[in-house]
Amino acid sequence: MNKRTFYLTTPIYYVNDVPHIGHSYTTIAADVLARYKRTKGFDVFFLTGTDEHGQKIQKAAQSCNKTPIEFANSVADKFKTLWTNLNISNDDFIRTTDERHCRRVKKIFQQIFEKGDIYLGDYEGWYCIPCESFWIESQLEEKKCPECKRAVEKVKEKNYFFRLSKYQKSLLEYYDKHPHFIQPESRRNELLHRLKFHVEDISVSRSAVEWGIQVPMDATHTIYVWIDALLNYITALGYDDDMQKFKIYWPASVHIIGKEILWFHGVIWPAILMSLKIDLPSKVFAHGWWTIEGQKISKSLGNAIDPTSIIQSYGIDAYRYFLLREVPFGLDGNFSYSALIQRINFDLGNDLGNLLQRTLTMIEKYFNGVIPEVACTEGELRKSSQVTHDKIVHEMEELQFSRALEIIWEFINRANKFIEEKKPWQLAKTSTAKPQLAAVIGSLARSIKDISVLIYPFMPKTAVEIQKQLGIIEDNQPLCLEFDQGFKEGTVVRKGKPLFPRIEHTESIQLKP
Ligand code: MSP
Repeated sequence: MNKRTFYLTTPIYYVNDVPHIGHSYTTIAADVLARYKRTKGFDVFFLTGTDEHGQKIQKAAQSCNKTPIEFANSVADKFKTLWTNLNISNDDFIRTTDERHCRRVKKIFQQIFEKGDIYLGDYEGWYCIPCESFWIESQLEEKKCPECKRAVEKVKEKNYFFRLSKYQKSLLEYYDKHPHFIQPESRRNELLHRLKFHVEDISVSRSAVEWGIQVPMDATHTIYVWIDALLNYITALGYDDDMQKFKIYWPASVHIIGKEILWFHGVIWPAILMSLKIDLPSKVFAHGWWTIEGQKISKSLGNAIDPTSIIQSYGIDAYRYFLLREVPFGLDGNFSYSALIQRINFDLGNDLGNLLQRTLTMIEKYFNGVIPEVACTEGELRKSSQVTHDKIVHEMEELQFSRALEIIWEFINRANKFIEEKKPWQLAKTSTAKPQLAAVIGSLARSIKDISVLIYPFMPKTAVEIQKQLGIIEDNQPLCLEFDQGFKEGTVVRKGKPLFPRIEHTESIQLKP
């Protein structure tokens, strides 16, 4: 039987700069979704990669006396290493300098040209190098780039153009028929407004930029970096030569991106696909932006913290949890060490960590370390486990990660309260209450196992650690994904170190960069 497929992507990141919290946010969110979908039985293809051509990279390489490819190699490696360190489960990593990509981009460009959607014209306008974006005079704000507010340069050259205007009507119709294509809705509305009023053909080549893929029918031009980049979503699947993966996975289930590149993904990319007569992705989700301690993340401010330093001090899963719990997916957020420590000490240490420790201690004390085998566990907690599971399905479909975590934590807190209410230490005093005690403890153990399954997409290492301490899996064994199932008779717990030891605030101040 064919499995249902799920194809999800992150933006491919520019290699002019080393990876920071913002990049890691998108990739972690995508990883959570990929892991979640796999647990639901989907055949997932999760793509990320790096965007390596264009003027910005060319300049960055020059400034450190490297060739563009030497420069790109070193930064692409940094991204790859970070993804390994963050436990990212991507199935492919595409680089726009990959031969497979360049070859296919040329072919696709030629196809669009042959069908008449690319033509040669004169371009006169402004270019923002940091955003790699063209602007016309009227779009500038105080002569600066309207997107990043930095200086723009005047461009006057012969360029190849893509007939974006031709697709305006079809795009509007598509938006109308697919109200959930762009999310969140507020961003969809902004985009729709712009799409209704302002669509011109766009320049898709540069004659002054050498570091790029050559235009197939004109060696004096390179392909505009954004066209080159967007095509990664299909070249990685083998479009248009080895079509095997493309046939399996396209159209993409979701492109996860930051809000600043929505125009490219919500308008230009669908128009290119329409020109190629390829189905459009099901969803484009534009999340918000992170600031650091209240400031925009920027190279010049020197505040672009390397996520590796955070995970070395606080752990991978704490970082993954924090990013997705702290801010509703779609809104902007602020990173601060004190907020991170709060989440570690309270949500992870007090709520989750203590629940495990207390339960394992009681299993050791009252049942010699063997999880009590009970035919009938305490119904109430079981029911709330199932309800939690069902609610999460809905939130995950909507990419509402923080809500999903909130719901899991409501369940964790319900389990903690259950201990207070049932007072197992009192039941343990009377021998006739032994069956009741077993039902309470058995039910708690089952709930913790369910919690490990629920948190797995967010905190894969912690999920495994919990199951090891419960005695369900051995070292190097995969997570047991069964939900609401009992334990094998005679399962012996192996209580280990606390999952999230308390962090004293003074320690954080020393660790601040
Ligand atoms: N290369 C283009 C994307 C091409 S996709 C076909 C690009 N690259 S980028 O390196 O600038 O990365 C942009 C993405 O990184 C954003 O869309 C977002 O996913 C992530 N972020 C970068 N800074 C961010 C924050 N400060 N906060 C949250 N995410 C941000 O644009």
